This record gives sequence, C-alpha cells and structure tokens, in this order.
Amino acid sequence: MFTSVIIPAAGFGERMGATIAKQFLPLKGKPILVHTLERFQQCAEVNEIIIATQKNSLEQIEELLSEFQITKAVTPVPGGERRQDSIANALNYIHTQSEIICVHDAVRPFIHLREITQTIETAKYFGASIVAVRAKDTIKKASTDGRVEHTLQRSSLWMVQTPQTFQRKILVDAYANAERNQLTATDDSYLVEKIGISPVIVEGSYDNIKITTPDDLLLAELLLQRFVP
Ligand code: CTP
Ligand code: MG
Repeated sequence: MFTSVIIPAAGFGERMGATIAKQFLPLKGKPILVHTLERFQQCAEVNEIIIATQKNSLEQIEELLSEFQITKAVTPVPGGERRQDSIANALNYIHTQSEIICVHDAVRPFIHLREITQTIETAKYFGASIVAVRAKDTIKKASTDGRVEHTLQRSSLWMVQTPQTFQRKILVDAYANAERNQLTATDDSYLVEKIGISPVIVEGSYDNIKITTPDDLLLAELLLQRFVP
C-alpha cells in the first residue's frame, strides 16, 4: 500500500527559546529534522515524505534534502498557525494513490524502525494506530487551584507520542470534522477519536522524546550516543 509520511516542522520552538527554530538545531553536526527524516528514508514501507514548514524555510529545507539525500521527500509545503493547520495543509499534497498516512513530529529523532513499521502495519489492519509508552508516574487530576480531585489508575494510562498512522480516508474525515466543529487538538489521534474511531496502541520506547526545552537537547546528545535505529 502506498504510504505517505507527514512531518510537521513549521513550529517556532518558543519553549526552546533558541535563535532558530529547534528543528534546525544541530545534533552531532546534523539538524534534528535531518535525523528524523533519515529514519523514514530508511523505512522500506514509506513511499513519500511531506514536510510542512514555515514559508521562509522552504528553500532551506530543499537544500537540506539534497545535501543529505532525503530522496523520498517531495517539495516541502507551507505549514499553518497551529500544528493541526500544518497537517491540514500537508493533506492537500498527499499522493493520489496514497492509502496510509503516518504523521511524525520533526523533533522526535529517536524513533526506531520497528515502531514505524508496526504502526503502519497496525493502521493497515485496524484503521488507526498510535505509538505510546506506559505512564511511569502516578497521574492525578487536579482542579485549577491545584487541589487533587482524583487519582487515575496507572495501569490504564499511556503517554502518547508520534508516529500516529491512519488509513487515508479516516484521517481526511477526521480533519474535515475538526474544521466543521472547530476542534483543537495537540495530536491527530484526538481528532480521529472524535469521529468515533479508537486507535490501536503500539508500545514504543522512552527514547522517543519530543525535543521541547533546552534540557531535552542535553538528553538528546546522550541518547544519540547509544541510539540504534
Ligand atoms: N508544528 C508545526 N506547525 C505549527 C506548530 C508546530 O508543524 N504551527 C510542529 C513542530 O515544528 C514540531 C511538532 O509540530 O515538529 C510538535 O510541536 P511542538 O513540539 O509544540 O513544537 P513548537 O510548536 O515548535 O514548539 P513550542 O510549542 O515550544 O513553540
Ligand atoms: Mg507547539
């Protein structure tokens, strides 16, 4: 099945607070975005990669693609104000033959090939699949003034990552529904859940961090030393 990957890379990285957007920060001399793209370039199941980026980074990304020979990536496309808008726009550029769409954050370079393959295979069969890890800490629900309301059952809690993979029609329908009902989400699964579909979890690894703040960058340097794709 023709499989497309969307990489949202149009954020500004405000929490990182660097002078450039965090996806372009170097990790062992190579931009974080390139590390991430290499994972999908290496994955046999992936046919095309669509990168959503800030309009003024389109050229810079084209240069990186040719420098690092990311041949599966097509011309980068403009992102939007929110992550969700970036993906909504990228959906307009998906190959006509594409049947499976996998979404993965540009700033999660430590994704293993096994996890990419498993989420794609699971989505082919079940329609929707997300990579997640079991919660390690006890998680409590609190009121806005910081008082504990109740304790959630840890054994049923998962911390959700990307990739998140969907049959094309499911993701397109979910985004159309989000637009109609003005839903806002920080992950794609939520929008899919809202059209009544329950994604299947693929258990991932704690390596797959989302590089968000300066201490994540330090952790990323350490993870890179022992990372095996
Ligand atoms: N993203 C995007 N378009 C946006 C906002 C975010 O494509 N309008 C992408 C980011 O580039 C990143 C991913 O979505 O790869 C996850 O978002 P996040 O970690 O929140 O990145 P930023 O929005 O850049 O960071 P911050 O929220 O700290 O500003
Ligand atoms: Mg953000």
